[in-house]
Amino acid sequence: MGQIIIKTPEQIEGIRSSAHLAAQALEYAGQFVKEGVNTEYIDDKIDEFIRSHGAIAATKGYNGYPKSSCISLNEVICHGIPSKQTILKPGDILNIDVTTILGGFYGDTSRMFTVGEVSAEAEKLIETTLHCLDLGIEQVKPGNRFGNIGFVIQRYAKALGYSVVYEFCGHGVGVDFHEEPQVDHASRRNTGPEMKPGMIFTIEPMINQGKPKASIDRYDGWTARTVDKKLSAQFEHTVLVTPNGCEVLTDIHDEYPVT
Ligand code: MF3
Ligand code: CO
Ligand code: CO
Repeated sequence: MGQIIIKTPEQIEGIRSSAHLAAQALEYAGQFVKEGVNTEYIDDKIDEFIRSHGAIAATKGYNGYPKSSCISLNEVICHGIPSKQTILKPGDILNIDVTTILGGFYGDTSRMFTVGEVSAEAEKLIETTLHCLDLGIEQVKPGNRFGNIGFVIQRYAKALGYSVVYEFCGHGVGVDFHEEPQVDHASRRNTGPEMKPGMIFTIEPMINQGKPKASIDRYDGWTARTVDKKLSAQFEHTVLVTPNGCEVLTDIHDEYPVT
C-alpha cells in the first residue's frame, strides 16, 4: 500500500492544465456523437485533439489497452474499446472517458452522451448518476473521510432503486494514472483515510439499473458489462482538496463552485 500523495503547488498547476485539456477533449468529442458514427472514429478525433495540444492519451498502451479513450455503450459499465464495428444508433446512451498526460501530469474525466431520442428510463439513470457525482463532490473537504463519498452516493442511488458498481473505483491521480487511495462509490460512513489539502483524486460513480455486478468480455479482456445486460451510466471528475473545500479540475464550465 502506497501513500496518498499531497501535491506541491507546481504539481497542482501541471495537473490542473492536464485536467483542463482532458475536459476540453471530452467536450470536443461531443460533436461527433450521432447516429451512424463508429466509436473508433470518435476515438481518432480525441487522439488528434489531445496530440495537437502537446499531450498524449494515457490509456493508449496502458496495461495493453489499445485506444485513446474508453467509449462504453448501454450495458457496458466501463472500458469499452472504441471500434469500427460499434456504430451509434438512436436510443444509445454512452460514456466517453478521456485521460490526458500533459507535461507528465494526468487528468481524467468522463461523461454520458445520448444518441437521438432515448428512453425515459435511460434519461433517469443518467440524471441520477450525475447527481451521485455531485453528491460525492460535496463531500470533498479537509478532515472528511473518503468513505463518506461512497456513503452518500450509495444512499441516494439505492433510494431510487439503482445499484452501485463496486468492482471499479475512483483513484488518486495526477503524478500517475492510478494512485492511492482507492475511492469507493459504495462505502460506510466515516471510514477510510482523511482528506487533506493538496490531495487530487477522481470520483467516477458507475450506477446500474439492475444488478451491480460486472463481467469482463472474455475475448477482449477489457469491456465490463452488467451481468443482467441492463443499462449502466457513469460520470467522472478529477478533484483537488483545497484548504476550504474543493476545486473540480475537470470542470471547464464553472458548474461547481470553488471552495
Ligand atoms: N479512465 C479510466 C479511469 O477512469 C481508466 C481507463 S484504463 C483503460 O480510471 F486502460 F481501460 F483505458
Ligand atoms: Co479514473
Ligand atoms: Co477515466
